[in-house]
Parts: sequence; C-alpha cells; structure tokens
Amino acid sequence: MSASELLDLSGRVALVTGAGQGVGHQIAATLAEYGASVIVNDFDLDRAKRVADEICTAGHVAMAARADVGDFDQVNRMFSDHGLGPVSIVVNNAGNGGAGPTPTRQLPFWEQRPADWERFLRVNLDGVLNVTQRGIAQMVPNGWGRVITIISDAGRVGESRGMEAYSGAKAGAAGFTRAIARLGGQYGITANCISLGATRTPAIEAQIQNEAFTKKVLSNYIVRRFGEPSDAANAALFLSSEAASYITGQTLPVNGGFSLTL
Ligand SMILES: NC(=O)c1ccc[n+]([C@@H]2O[C@H](COP(=O)([O-])OP(=O)(O)OC[C@H]3O[C@@H](n4cnc5c(N)ncnc54)[C@H](O)[C@@H]3O)[C@@H](O)[C@H]2O)c1
Repeated sequence: MSASELLDLSGRVALVTGAGQGVGHQIAATLAEYGASVIVNDFDLDRAKRVADEICTAGHVAMAARADVGDFDQVNRMFSDHGLGPVSIVVNNAGNGGAGPTPTRQLPFWEQRPADWERFLRVNLDGVLNVTQRGIAQMVPNGWGRVITIISDAGRVGESRGMEAYSGAKAGAAGFTRAIARLGGQYGITANCISLGATRTPAIEAQIQNEAFTKKVLSNYIVRRFGEPSDAANAALFLSSEAASYITGQTLPVNGGFSLTL
C-alpha cells in the first residue's frame, strides 16, 4: 500500500469529543480531510456546528452532536442518534485542564473541596469511559476500530498548582486506554494515547500572552515553541490509520521533546 492509501480513512466514521475548538477542532478537520465522516461533539452546540459547517464547506462530511461526555445518557443518545453508521474511530479529546487562572488553581490540594476535583474527573476520566464504552460496542461487530485518548504530560509526570486531580484523571484515562487495547486486540481494535505538552489553543491563550510564563514553559521544550493543534491532529491521523495497525496500548508524546528535559 502507498503512504496515501495507508492514511486514507474513506468509509470510516470518526467521533471526536470536545471538537468545537482547539485540538479537537483540528483533529476533526484532519480526519475529515483524509476521508472520514466526522461527528463533531461538543457540549457547546454552537461551537460544534461552526466546526461541522467549516468541514462541510471544505467538501467533506461532518455533523455536529451536542453531548456532555461526562453524562452517560447524553453520550448514549449521541451514539444512537447521529445517523452516520457505526463509529469506527473514537478520539477522546474533551478535557478541561486549561491553564486558566481558576480559583482551584490558587488553592493547595489540602484546601480543595470534592467539587474542585470532581469536575476534572468527570470530563477527563468518566467522559473517556462513557464515550469509549459506547464506541467499542459499535466497533466490535465490524472487527475494526481505533480509540485515541488525548492525555497530558500532567498525567505522566504530575502537575501540582491545583492540577492534582487533572493529573490523576489523565493518568487514569491512560491506564483505561491500555486496558481497552488488551480487550480490543482480538476484535481488530487498537487503543492508544497522545500525550500533549503546552499546545496553543483557546485553553491556554491567556497564559501565552504572559511573557514570563512563555519563557518559563518554553525552556522545558527542546524545540522552543508551543505545540500547535495540527501537531496533535497529525498524530491522531496516523494512529487512526492503517499505518498504525500494529501499534496499540502506547502513549505517543507530542510535546516538543519535553520528556527529554525531565
Ligand atoms: N492546550 C494544552 O496546552 C493541552 C495540554 C495538554 C493536554 N491537553 C488536552 O488536550 C485536549 C484538548 O484541549 P484544548 O486545549 O483544545 O481545550 P479547549 O478548552 O480549547 O477545548 C476543549 C473543548 O472541549 C469542550 N468540552 C469541555 N468539556 C466537555 C464535555 N464535558 N463534553 C463535551 N465537550 C466538552 C469545550 O466546550 C471545548 O470546545 C484536552 O483533553 C486537554 O486536557 C491540552
């Protein structure tokens, strides 16, 4: 097979969560460009519609689907109602770890309340279980599938400053995704994670304006730039494709070499 045939996703239906902006937006657009029909999920329907319209205007197939990934019933309805056929690629991208200045970020963990950490677990861990559970139910009968979970370097190395629960949720999502790799192998399903470093999206836009923050962060990235959503999307395309059919249970760091500075 040629390289372009290996990356061809024609005939696949992909669901990308949290695709109304940022990394998810770019992943949805890239998978559609390579032939997948894409369900653009977000709990903000206007955002999802804007992205789906943009993809359709570019001549590809997409539809918007509103669901809060942390709510199993909403996720279940989304999988039943979309009408594009069985989902064969799930990208668990929805997350709420933006480095924004939240009240939680200013509190040491020992002063936080359960509500401060439950909101991280709900999206970054429960959301991944909910969506993957419904997704693989549609992949197993077809004997082919891809699960890709976007985690964070916070989940691999731990981040404090109010991000303890976020770190735990992302690490949990990675462990869960490896378990799905074990389960899915016999059904032609691979499951992998992409671990992102600081990536230029609306989630960290405000921080990037801060020169001191930028200097400090980039000193840990050996390529000396922030990640772009396209960096994540290119990795997601590869892992979604036939080119990655022998790769499962892995975490691919897309982080400008951050790992090497640890
Ligand atoms: N941007 C970074 O620096 C960075 C670093 C490491 C990991 N990540 C991870 O990458 C992923 C994408 O991050 P981003 O920077 O594009 O974020 P973002 O905040 O720019 O976009 C996230 C999108 O997800 C949607 N969303 C949030 N909660 C949802 C829910 N419960 N159900 C459905 N949709 C929901 C939001 O409405 C938003 O459109 C996340 O999982 C994040 O944790 C990002």
